[in-house]
Amino acid sequence: MNHSNPTFLWGAATSSHQIEGYNDKNDWWAWEALGKIERGERSGSCTDHWHRFREDLKRAADLGMNSYRFSVEWSRLEPQEGQWDSEAFDWYFELIQECERLGLVPMLTLHHFTLPLWMAEQGGFSWERAPELFGRFTRKVVERLGAKVALWCTINEPMVLTAGCYLGQFMPPAIYSPEKARMACHHLLKSHVIAYDLIHREIPKSESRWKEITPQVGIAHNMIDFVPDRTWSVIERWLAEQLHQFYNISWLDAITGRGQRFGFPMLMAQAPIVPEANERVSVDYLGINYYTRARVQFTPKLNGPPINVAFARKGEAASDVDWPIHPQGLQKVLKIAGSYELPVYITENGIADRDDDLRPRYIREHLREVAMARQNGIDVRGYYYWSLLDNFEWVKGFDPRFGLFRVDYNTFERTETHSARVYQEIIEKHKSFGGGAEDLVKLASFLSE
Ligand code: BGC
Repeated sequence: MNHSNPTFLWGAATSSHQIEGYNDKNDWWAWEALGKIERGERSGSCTDHWHRFREDLKRAADLGMNSYRFSVEWSRLEPQEGQWDSEAFDWYFELIQECERLGLVPMLTLHHFTLPLWMAEQGGFSWERAPELFGRFTRKVVERLGAKVALWCTINEPMVLTAGCYLGQFMPPAIYSPEKARMACHHLLKSHVIAYDLIHREIPKSESRWKEITPQVGIAHNMIDFVPDRTWSVIERWLAEQLHQFYNISWLDAITGRGQRFGFPMLMAQAPIVPEANERVSVDYLGINYYTRARVQFTPKLNGPPINVAFARKGEAASDVDWPIHPQGLQKVLKIAGSYELPVYITENGIADRDDDLRPRYIREHLREVAMARQNGIDVRGYYYWSLLDNFEWVKGFDPRFGLFRVDYNTFERTETHSARVYQEIIEKHKSFGGGAEDLVKLASFLSE
């Protein structure tokens, strides 16, 4: 596996708080205790992955996957400021070793939405010290786990995190403060750049079976295909474009050194909520999380921006959380990502589908778009289905079922879905063509059958 002829990475993605269980020293745990989750649910023992990681990884490997994206839980590794939990590091080391044994290239995410409580209490990423502390945390992870990890994802969905915490109020601390949003965005970018430099500088010599993979550091960026609700409306067309620039583009521009081309001042209370531009490329690949499209509506109101983001229309094919199924949007966002001339990974793509009747087609159709993107010259290197297992879907609790494996939350039993077998068949077919990224092109016709 090298840069010129990369084996395509087939994987699934998860995050610590959504599967491990008993992450009781982070901000989400505390927020759940305040009754903020739908139906008053709490993550509790979750899927009990902490005790079942071996069998879960085996499930991934048995489907033919060759990679696995997961996140390390900062609040386990540094439960109190400056105190490191050696046993928690050992657990992640074992997890990574198990990946290696099973032939799964690990992609390690350093931050996936949760913060240690001690950090959240000081303001989380809106706190000035956040970049320095994130850097210190990154250094520890690199020291302890770095010899085994080549693929790094610093921060999951910085834009969603900023919006969730300080604008849309669906993540702790759930306050409306454009100023804090602006600070958080800025500090997240700084944190990323610090981690990017640090990993490249300090990563130990590889002791993994994939020595030939050059360390790559990126982020996972959520992209949505924004469309005007009413195509005839000039203002909604304009708003959709503004939102696209703000939500999809500004982060990509900032981390690739293209400068700060865009602010969203008049809609977001005079504070340009975009990361301040970085002066150089500080990313080796772009990770794209793509799920759906959204309709942008012009809704003038007295307080707040005159904009509403809506999802499925009545009768439209959509997931259980009402996100329209829109594979063509993946093609669009990949084209944009490709224009930065960096390798691209689809770090998340998936659907909440309790009955598993839409998911097989969802996977096939989205992968066909991936294959077509490759055909159009975009350097897509991997695809991670979200998610390996059903899990704790943040404020929506356990109801949405994203998993390739169903989880029974009473017994923790896992059941394979039909979709898992569909995904397995696609991976096998692709391997029969050679398994390289360029062989995706051959996969396109198989996926169109
Ligand atoms: C997040 C995941 C989440 C998924 C489905 C992504 O935005 O990274 O944590 O579960 O979407 O909502």
